[in-house]
Amino acid sequence: MNSTTNAPVPAKLIPNLGLKGRNTLGLDAMADLAYEINSPAQIPAVISQITEKNLPWRVLGGGSNVILPTTLPGATLLMNITDQVIESADPDATLISVGGGVGWHEFVIWTLEHDLPGLENLALIPGTVGAAPIQNIGAYGVEIAEYIDHVEAFDAKAHAFVTLSKDECKFAYRDSYFKQNPQRFIVTKVVFRIPKAWEARVHYADLAKQFANNPYPSAEEIFLAVCKVRTHKLPDPKRIGNAGSFFQNPVIPNEQFETLLKKYPALVSYPDAPGKRKVAAGWLIDQCGFKGQRMGNVGVYENQALVLVNHGGGTAKDILGLAKCIQDKVREKFGVGLDIEPNIL
Ligand code: EPU
Repeated sequence: MNSTTNAPVPAKLIPNLGLKGRNTLGLDAMADLAYEINSPAQIPAVISQITEKNLPWRVLGGGSNVILPTTLPGATLLMNITDQVIESADPDATLISVGGGVGWHEFVIWTLEHDLPGLENLALIPGTVGAAPIQNIGAYGVEIAEYIDHVEAFDAKAHAFVTLSKDECKFAYRDSYFKQNPQRFIVTKVVFRIPKAWEARVHYADLAKQFANNPYPSAEEIFLAVCKVRTHKLPDPKRIGNAGSFFQNPVIPNEQFETLLKKYPALVSYPDAPGKRKVAAGWLIDQCGFKGQRMGNVGVYENQALVLVNHGGGTAKDILGLAKCIQDKVREKFGVGLDIEPNIL
């Protein structure tokens, strides 16, 4: 008998998948069992299977913000949802719905090609659209939170699809409700709201320098300038393994900041919440003499002390060992603690 159902094609299962090419640090890791997710409809069955077998699990997007162990037990979900549509265009803004598996930088290029400027300051950030809201990616004075309308996800705790408004996402500096609830949400779709009114944002020191003689740059010019600065400061993961900024910029109380500033007048910092100051972690690490240093197979990038690199053959243990050395030295010299930015799996 010919029975037709509307059940989705099950997610493809791949046992013993090597992940060296799927994490930008280039760590040699093996997933016991990988599920390739091509559509949201496949997720409930995958989560049911994982729960029944009581397996540990995690989602892997572009692998640009993770530190992978040598083996990943249980299930690893590879996000491959790549639909992208303009949902509506009202006089004030354009809503664009984008699958979680779309590459972030490719999406930024697509917006500019469709004359939807706004995201140009966030060019060249590695990773996927689905991972972007989790750590609220930001660069050169812009955070993705400003451009998000809502996020669609599968809530593994409630075993249901959910839609979170921008407020419900609780975005903060490199933080969100998703990040605060690990092992719970699988982001399937991000709906962006790109306002029609556009204004160049080049106040950030590195960009201001580029436009000293060009007071009205176009979005394309800003995009190219951001690509130029990032290419210089951040190594291309295809050449040297890295996960972008390895530490968050620490936020310290004003009193502690004032005391430090007296001792170190060149200290780089930014305003933050009332009574607090955000300090440039790269500056602190640089002052401790780590820039360009190597420790076995891993090291600190020569052009940006906030970036740890894998010169080849490095493991999570090596990277975390170097991170610990840096954290200890920075605490000893400045009395400031540094939090690791990528997720340690
Ligand atoms: N600095 C040094 N030495 C260094 C590195 C930095 O003295 O080796 C000083 C710089 O001179 C500068 C200041 O520290 O005055 C800040 O450096 P930079 O402009 O390079 O930015 P950042 O604070 O180190 C943050 C983000 C980056 C983002 C840039 C640009 C975090 C943790 N990092 O870096 O985000 O691209 O600003 O907006 O907030 C990422 O999260 O992976 C990332 C790359």
